[in-house]
Formats: sequence, C-alpha cells, structure tokens
Amino acid sequence: MQLDAFLDLARSRRAVRKFKPDPLPDGVLTRLLEAARWAPSGYNLQPTHFVTVTDPRTRERLYRPCMSQGAVVDAPATVVFAGDRQAHRTRFERALRLDLEESAIPPAYADDLRRYVKLGFSTGPVGLGWLLRATVFPLLRWFTPMPSLPAVHRRYWVTKQVMLAAMSFMLAAKAAGLGTLPMEGFDEGRVRRLLGIPRRFEVPVIVAVGFTEAGEAKKTRVPLEESLHADRW
Ligand SMILES: Cc1cc2nc3c(=O)[nH]c(=O)nc-3n(C[C@H](O)[C@H](O)[C@H](O)COP(=O)(O)O)c2cc1C
Repeated sequence: MQLDAFLDLARSRRAVRKFKPDPLPDGVLTRLLEAARWAPSGYNLQPTHFVTVTDPRTRERLYRPCMSQGAVVDAPATVVFAGDRQAHRTRFERALRLDLEESAIPPAYADDLRRYVKLGFSTGPVGLGWLLRATVFPLLRWFTPMPSLPAVHRRYWVTKQVMLAAMSFMLAAKAAGLGTLPMEGFDEGRVRRLLGIPRRFEVPVIVAVGFTEAGEAKKTRVPLEESLHADRW
C-alpha cells in the first residue's frame, strides 16, 4: 500500500457511534483479527487475546457493564481485547520455538531473549523478585540506564501491547469498509466476569465493529507542530 493511501485510511477512520444492524460478511471478523494478531509485541510475547461477542443476548448483557454505550448492542460484533499478565510464562517459549523453527531469529538471540525476559518479568519466589525490581533496580538507575520493568509495571506493559493490536484491528476494519468504536468506558471486573475472562488478564479496551450509519461527525486534530518536538523537547 502506498503512503498516500495509508494516510487516507488513517485520516478517515472515525470513532463511530451509530451502527447499522447488518451482520458482518462471512469471515471478515477473522480477517480483522488476523491484522490484530500481526501487531508487534515486546519480546514477541503476544499477550493479546480476543473475545468476540456476536451473540445478541451476550451483547445485551454487555451493555450495562459498558456504561450503557449503545454501540455494544447496535453493532453486530464487539471485540474485548484482553492482555495476559503472565504471557512470559504462557507464550514466551512457544513463540520462541516457532521463531527458531522458522529461523526467524538466531539461537544466540533466543538465549539473550530468555535472559531479558527473566530479568524483566520474573517476580521470583514469594514476590522477592518483584521486591528487588521495585526497590533496588530503580536505585541502579543512578549508575546505569534502566528500563521500566514489566515485573513491576505489569498493567502498563500489557496495555501497550494490547492497544497496538486494537489499532491494527481498527485500521483493518476501516480498510474493509467498516466502522469501529474503541471504548475505555466499561467496568472491567463486570466485563471479565460476564465473559469468563481469567483474572490474570487485563482488559484495556473494547472495540465495537460494524457497518456505519451516515452522519458521524468529522473530527479534528491539533496541528502537528503543537505535538512535534524535533531532536529535543
Ligand atoms: C482508548 C480509547 C478509549 C475510548 N473510549 C471511548 C468510549 O468509551 N466511548 C466513546 O464514545 N468513545 C471512546 N473513544 C473514542 C474517542 O472519543 C475518539 O477516538 C476521539 O474523540 C477522536 O475521534 P476519532 O476517533 O473519530 O478521530 C475512545 C478512544 C480511545 C482511543
């Protein structure tokens, strides 16, 4: 795709609040999720899971936990984006094996990744690793550069990864002629319980998707110059 075409797509994506009840064409939702699945993630840990809600009764039940946002019942599909706080345990070795099988990464790099993931994510026995990372590591920052560690800032880490997948999903939907509404207005605990999402998952965003009614307001952005800091803030 050419840059101009991509810019048109990015500019024309709107947060849609009026959906037609028409169902999504067969297979489209899976293709949008394919776009989401290929979003990058730290250490390629791929923590994002997708709960697709298309059953009308479940959409009705999702309505109140989503702060009575009409999109959840109006749109034919809603995707709950969830991120696994334990992806370093549940996904890492599998993802690494796939990359090694495909020669996507050299074995030496796989060993490096194992070390980094252990350093960054491990909370150790009875949380001692967490304590170390939350107290001693920030002190080390006086002497050497230290990234924020997912072991300590887990919710922040998971949110970053999941939002990239959600953005890919929304742009793909736009490319398919569909509209989306990203939602942060929801009661996470209630949504999790309703859909049976395990407690170790965070739910940073929910996205409704469907064909749109005409008349969505044109949105604006502040000029780039007001947000751009070239070379230095
Ligand atoms: C993370 C996130 C959460 C949002 N949550 C809601 C929401 O709960 N309800 C809603 O109506 N719009 C929500 N929005 C939509 C924003 O209001 C919208 O994206 C913004 O006004 C810019 O408009 P545009 O997306 O049409 O360009 C959310 C957007 C983002 C990125």
